[in-house]
Amino acid sequence: MSPSQGAPVPMPALPEPSPSLPLLAGRRILVSGVLTPKSIAYAIAEACLRGGAEVALTSFGRAMSLTERSARRLGLAGPVLEMDASRPDQMAAVAASLRERWGGLDGAVHAIGFAPDDALGGNFLTAPWESVAMAMQISAFSLKTMAVELAPLMSRGGSVVTLTFDATVAWPLYDWMGPTKAALEAIVRYLARDLGPRRIRVNSIAAGPLETVAARAIPSLTGLKSAWRQVAPLGWDTGDAGPVADAALFLLSDLARAVTGEMLHVDGGYHSQGARVPGDVSELPAGFLSAEDAPA
Ligand SMILES: NC(=O)c1ccc[n+]([C@@H]2O[C@H](COP(=O)([O-])OP(=O)(O)OC[C@H]3O[C@@H](n4cnc5c(N)ncnc54)[C@H](O)[C@@H]3O)[C@@H](O)[C@H]2O)c1
Repeated sequence: MSPSQGAPVPMPALPEPSPSLPLLAGRRILVSGVLTPKSIAYAIAEACLRGGAEVALTSFGRAMSLTERSARRLGLAGPVLEMDASRPDQMAAVAASLRERWGGLDGAVHAIGFAPDDALGGNFLTAPWESVAMAMQISAFSLKTMAVELAPLMSRGGSVVTLTFDATVAWPLYDWMGPTKAALEAIVRYLARDLGPRRIRVNSIAAGPLETVAARAIPSLTGLKSAWRQVAPLGWDTGDAGPVADAALFLLSDLARAVTGEMLHVDGGYHSQGARVPGDVSELPAGFLSAEDAPA
C-alpha cells in the first residue's frame, strides 16, 4: 500500500487508571456541585469514595432533591447539606454541621457555576451589571467565602479544589463566565497565598468541555466539542468526567503536598496546541503512522 493510501489511524482510547490506591483513606471531604450523575462533582465524589474518603455533599434550593438522589446512588448515608453559594450564613452553617459530624475537614471541592442567560450566549456587550454581579458572586467569590468558612476545620492542613474553563483566553459565547472564571483563577492564587501558611492548598482544574446541566447553558458546547476533537492531542470524551475526577483526587491527596495556586489543565492537551491545519503532521498517516503502526 502506498503511504498516501494509509488507512485512517484510529485514536487509541486513553488507558484506564489502575485500581485507585487509597489515597484519601481517613480523609473527610466536602463536595459541592453534585446535581446529576453527569456532574463533574459526582465523578469527583465517586473518586474520593474509591480513594477511601468520607464524603459529604452540599446543594441548594430546588436542586436539593436531585442531589439527594445522586447521594443515594453514591451510597452516601449522611444528609445533603444546604449551601446556596450566595448565602454566607448557609456556608457558616455547613461548617458548623461538619464540625459536629466529623470534628474537622481535610478537603473541599468547589464545583459551582452559574450565570444568568443575559450574561451568556452573545450578550457580552449588553449584559447588565446585576447579572454579571450574580455570576461573579456565585461562581467566583463563593470560593473565597467557602474557603474562609471551612479553613478553621482544616487544623491539620487541607486541600481546596475548584473547576474552571481556562480563562486565560476568550471563548465563543462563554461571555461573562469568562471574566468570572478569570476571577476564580485569581482567587485561587490569593487564597493559596493566605492559606498556605496554614498548610491549606488551593488549586483549580481547567477541564475540557463536558456534557453537564451547566454546560447546556453554554450555547457553544457543540462547536467546542468539535474544536476539541480536532485539536486535543490525546482526544477528549465530553461524556467522561473521570480524568478530571482523577486529577481532583491527586490534588486532594498528599501526593500534591507541594502544589498550590496552580491551574491544572485536564483537557486532553488542548491548551498546549496552536491551530491545526489540513496537512498537519498528525493528519499524515503516510510514512509517519500507519494503521499497522497505531497502538492497539
Ligand atoms: N461542563 C463543562 O464543560 C465544564 C468545564 C470546565 C469547568 N466547568 C465547571 O465545573 C463546575 C461544575 O459544573 P458542571 O459542568 O459539573 O455542571 P453541573 O450543572 O452538574 O454543576 C453545576 C453546579 O452548580 C450548582 N449551583 C449553581 N448555582 C448555585 C448556587 N447559587 N449555590 C450553590 N450551588 C449552585 C448547581 O446546583 C450544580 O450542582 C462549574 O464551576 C463549571 O463552570 C464545567
